[in-house]
Amino acid sequence: MSELIKRPRRLRATPVIRGLVREHRVTADRLALPIFVMEGEGAGREAIGAMPGVDRHTIDSVLAVVESALGVGVGAFALFPRVEAAHKSADGASALRDDTLACRALSAVRRRFPGVALIADVALDPYSTDGHDGIVRGGRVVNDETVGVLARMAVAQAAAGADVVAPSDMMDGRVGAIRRALEGAGLSETVILSYTAKYASAFYGPFRDALGSAPVAREGVPADKSTYQMDPANGAEALIEARLDLDEGADMVMVKPGLPYLDVIHRLATALEAPVAAYHVSGEYAMLRAAAERGMIDYHAGLAESLTSLARAGARFILTYGAVDHARRLIAENGRG
Ligand code: PBG
Repeated sequence: MSELIKRPRRLRATPVIRGLVREHRVTADRLALPIFVMEGEGAGREAIGAMPGVDRHTIDSVLAVVESALGVGVGAFALFPRVEAAHKSADGASALRDDTLACRALSAVRRRFPGVALIADVALDPYSTDGHDGIVRGGRVVNDETVGVLARMAVAQAAAGADVVAPSDMMDGRVGAIRRALEGAGLSETVILSYTAKYASAFYGPFRDALGSAPVAREGVPADKSTYQMDPANGAEALIEARLDLDEGADMVMVKPGLPYLDVIHRLATALEAPVAAYHVSGEYAMLRAAAERGMIDYHAGLAESLTSLARAGARFILTYGAVDHARRLIAENGRG
């Protein structure tokens, strides 16, 4: 007779037992799908070299993507516009128009699908010839002037139909300015999801290809975002950022990228009462696809494990390019999302 009383394998014996004791389950209602939008009439789409399986879409095609995502239980969407060169400038001024591609896409989706959650990115990079999230002047990405522009941009996007505005710029004080501007415009119900711990990461490369928004060096400002995005070496600083954002009026905070920063997600989720989200970013998605194309890993299993790990670390919901893929797999496996 064995001496072993404790045998953890007992709870791993069958799929049903494993299901009973499973701690985390990433269901479709915990996922938000980022969508790249481009100009164009009719339902058109364009492949993105660095992101197999993800396309850029005209507004009509975005509507079709939303419809099929809703069909598998994904109801939240983050829209990212690829802005035409003619609308880019050093000060990113076209971001303030109320008929930007982003605003037109937001209102089209809002009109057709009133119940979805629409997340709008607030930062200047798609509109800036410098590819920076703020205005470049005198050898710096200037903070306070940028914040004023971002606040007006957030109001335009909320008015167009975004229920969530998500400042991804990492300027100081932007959440407070956006909250005051929203209140001033009578938009007191708009949610602010702050990209609170956004790191200066190598994993955004495919996203910048998709939007043509890579930063360029000019006036002594380098072609990277390290003077405003966080240093990957810092964890405690994420708490400083998160507390500021919540004090300034953010409803939720986000950590980005995801997998390389599980400790940061965990730290924020443990320390704060507010929901913490994770962005499983373009480079994380591209790595899965690239390895799968070479037969090195299974895309669906790798995606499911990545998302589960983010949830285990403390992410309440996740932005991922694999949202629909994951939701479809859940339905195939369990008959539900
Ligand atoms: C823009 C923005 C970026 C991402 C989301 N919003 C890129 C950047 O900061 O350069 C990256 C998302 C991804 O890589 O999937 N401020």
